[in-house]
Amino acid sequence: AEQKQALKERIKALLKQRNAVLVAHYYTDGDLQELAEETGGCVADSLEMARFGSRQEAQTLVVCGVRFMGETAKILNPEKRILMPDLNATCSLDEGCPADEFSEFCDQHPDHTVVVYANTSARVKARSDWVVTSGIALPIIEHLAARGEKILWAPDKHLGHYVQRMTGADMLLWNGSCVVHEEFKSVALERIRRLHPDAAVLVHPESPEDVIEQADVVGSTTALINAVVEMENSEFIVATDGGIFHKMKQLAPNKKLIAAPTAGEGATCESCAHCPWMGMNALQNLAEVLENQNNEILIDPDIREQAVKPIQRMLDFAQ
Ligand code: 13P
Ligand code: SF4
Repeated sequence: AEQKQALKERIKALLKQRNAVLVAHYYTDGDLQELAEETGGCVADSLEMARFGSRQEAQTLVVCGVRFMGETAKILNPEKRILMPDLNATCSLDEGCPADEFSEFCDQHPDHTVVVYANTSARVKARSDWVVTSGIALPIIEHLAARGEKILWAPDKHLGHYVQRMTGADMLLWNGSCVVHEEFKSVALERIRRLHPDAAVLVHPESPEDVIEQADVVGSTTALINAVVEMENSEFIVATDGGIFHKMKQLAPNKKLIAAPTAGEGATCESCAHCPWMGMNALQNLAEVLENQNNEILIDPDIREQAVKPIQRMLDFAQ
């Protein structure tokens, strides 16, 4: 514990020295989330992370999360230095949507508006008309559908199907998924619900359809955290990465939080669901990256110029 405290103090001093700000996702380690908040940075969902980065004066942003989050920060703030504790922190959605194959798919459907999830590479974003996050996917697709646009959606098929069911939009879907949320099991969830009949079920929309169907609230990490605070229930079953419990406990210490099961027998451990790439962010490599100022995110300027348009469109829409 002493060592941990010393590491935290060193990180705080380095943040000042480097005039750097920490931006962390809700799935990262609780210590990192606390550090971000204590030092004037932020902990947020991917939409707010993008927004926060754009409002910062600091010349250096350290993004604790996965690579696409660092890339989005760089695309929006090309003049800033964007560092990450580990540049290998990827995302199965990003990995499952290679830019060349995706571009061919788009070429085959030129009459479709291309909407991509933020969990994609800069090159995939550069090929799109709109970028969306889970927090804003529904209203943007509703808006496009109301204009009669046909949509090509990538990469998350579960979120895509969910949006399609909710809006009735004409959507062609790429076949990608999140390895973390895909593991939630509907039969085991039914069992846990029977054991906790008064619990509200909170589900991230990257989960399979038969899990989403059982939800009382479907939404982004921010929406799920807000639900725990705002709903009157005293128990919640949560189907998303276990990293989210840190914030939920902090804001609603008296509520009982139950991790949705990822295994058939309905285990309830909070470590069941955890993104291995989010887990690559730790105090040690955060301190190192601040010390050495390595692990910088760089984006080809031509790609950046294309990729910023669909992201900016999302942020303008969100206002
Ligand atoms: P949010 O935008 O809801 O924070 O989701 C990001 C993510 O990677 C979920 O797995
Ligand atoms: Fe990607 Fe899933 Fe990890 Fe989120 S939880 S970063 S979608 S692999």
